[in-house]
Amino acid sequence: MCGIVGILGREPVARHIVESLKRLEYRGYDSAGVATLEGGVITRRRAEGKLRNLEARLAEAPLAGLAGIGHTRWATHGKPTEVNAHPHASDGLAVVHNGIIENFRELRAELTAKGQTFTTETDTEVVAHLVGDFLRQGLSPREAVAATLPRLKGAFALAFLFEGHDDLLIGARQGAPLAVGHGEGEMYLGSDALALAPFTDTITYLEDGDWVALTRDSAEFRDVAGRLANRPRIKTQASAFLVDKGNHRHFMAKEIHEQPEVVGRTLAHYLDMSAGRVRLPFDLPVDPAAIDRISIVACGTAYLAGLTAKYWLERFARLPVEIDVASEFRYREAPMSRDGLTVVISQSGETADTLASLRYAKGQGQKTLAVVNVATSTIARECDVVAPTLAGPEIGVASTKAFTCQLAVLASLAIAIGRGRGAIAPETEARLVGDLIGVPGLMAEAMKRESQIASLSHHLSRASDVLYLGRGTAFPLALEGALKLKEISYIHAEGYAAGELKHGPIALIDENMPVIVIAPSDQWLEKTVSNVQEVAARGGRIVLIGDRKAADEAAVTLDGFVAMPDMAPEFAPMVYAVPVQMLAYHTAVTMGKDVDQPRNLAKSVTVE
Ligand code: AGP
Repeated sequence: MCGIVGILGREPVARHIVESLKRLEYRGYDSAGVATLEGGVITRRRAEGKLRNLEARLAEAPLAGLAGIGHTRWATHGKPTEVNAHPHASDGLAVVHNGIIENFRELRAELTAKGQTFTTETDTEVVAHLVGDFLRQGLSPREAVAATLPRLKGAFALAFLFEGHDDLLIGARQGAPLAVGHGEGEMYLGSDALALAPFTDTITYLEDGDWVALTRDSAEFRDVAGRLANRPRIKTQASAFLVDKGNHRHFMAKEIHEQPEVVGRTLAHYLDMSAGRVRLPFDLPVDPAAIDRISIVACGTAYLAGLTAKYWLERFARLPVEIDVASEFRYREAPMSRDGLTVVISQSGETADTLASLRYAKGQGQKTLAVVNVATSTIARECDVVAPTLAGPEIGVASTKAFTCQLAVLASLAIAIGRGRGAIAPETEARLVGDLIGVPGLMAEAMKRESQIASLSHHLSRASDVLYLGRGTAFPLALEGALKLKEISYIHAEGYAAGELKHGPIALIDENMPVIVIAPSDQWLEKTVSNVQEVAARGGRIVLIGDRKAADEAAVTLDGFVAMPDMAPEFAPMVYAVPVQMLAYHTAVTMGKDVDQPRNLAKSVTVE
């Protein structure tokens, strides 16, 4: 969601702040701003829309300060206008904010009663006025921030700049991530290490409840109780990563094409390929033979990876699986047994609902395992065991390579748990591992259908509604196909279990309705084919994604057929994800949409 950057530098910082904010663009935003201290006075520039608009403002009216804060805002309270854009400046300070101040209404009422005037619709402005109020009472900037933080409810990260204090930057973290970058006579604040990578590879992450006072050569951390705290400096890999699209037009295209490589890398981390066995790079936090169910919690695409894993875990490990979207789970008060296993899945490792669910499960005495892509994320730090996906940074808002890497980890986990429960024989494990090893090659083969998929997308781009159908492990992929299409093309799409067709959605079928059928040759093929015929009988426009056998058995006129390579059925979702992603991608490109930063969406959803 919002991005925060702060710099205490030795030369004018506005340009560096904007460059750094560009590295946070992937998180999603709709306005941006920067403020610096010039001669001890705060001056700011803000703009609606993309950072290029802010750059234009800065070109017209440059900022010369050596200390500054910047922000990309994803609107939560108030429209994405310049007035609502951060930094908010009043009372001798400027503040940028990521997250939500849940009690802003009562604080606003309290401050209004004291005579304060509000000029924006944001929740953030109460923070500026609250700190300002304490400054007027004679508190120092540090004391004013310390007095303000306990008054704020919600999940947020904040960065402050104070007039008359050229060598001070204060950051605070409660729920949303914030990192300090240590430079040579310079200091930085950022929403993540990626933003700070051009300046330094030495990072300290604030822990929840921490705040930090930075000068150019010191960083003083305090914990939630105000005690001085030692927080470790770590070296990050982020600097090695160049935020570029390579030869691709969009990050999403690059990330789709990276999949054979990153899924291969992830599998290599989890499989002993020569022994034909899964070799988990960690000890499971529970004895698989002693548990009687697994709970899986995640959001969006990560949830759909979890739904696929439910099929694998129930089949390979003979273990019941409960799965929930995190926004429901966190408030459901689900009873959980002590010492059971909860698996959370998250690309970013910062998703607010998933993090809250993890904490709930821990509170219930569950052992927790997190499948995460960002190794330094809050979820990775708070779970009992991290199962990393080695997808590399995913920049496109639409999750692609993180999804297939999550599937690679979850498939390996299901096999390992199956072995631990004595539910699968060594020969079966060897066969399954052999099938997994074949997945990256099959993905590369599936990529060869791209030009055909691109031409199919021209038809799809004219539709107003699209239906995706699948059975078994193709059902979560049908949901994922619909999610992908709607998030980047804005075409309304629904995913259904093919067997549910007769229970309602078949009423929608007519000659205007494209129906994407995901039909690998698995034990459900015959039944999926019957559903295809039902759609054809009602004039539906069918696009079949399947192998030659599926096309032969369907024996109906197809609007399109994406011919998939023959493969063992178990891990087909990892391979079939490729055409599903490409179909959404090319449809959105055909329609001229902003594929990498679709409207209203954020990459990392750090508010609930
Ligand atoms: C995926 O295309 C979406 N943008 C979204 O559903 C995403 O998967 C979800 O917000 C969860 O994010 P996480 O994996 O970072 O927790």
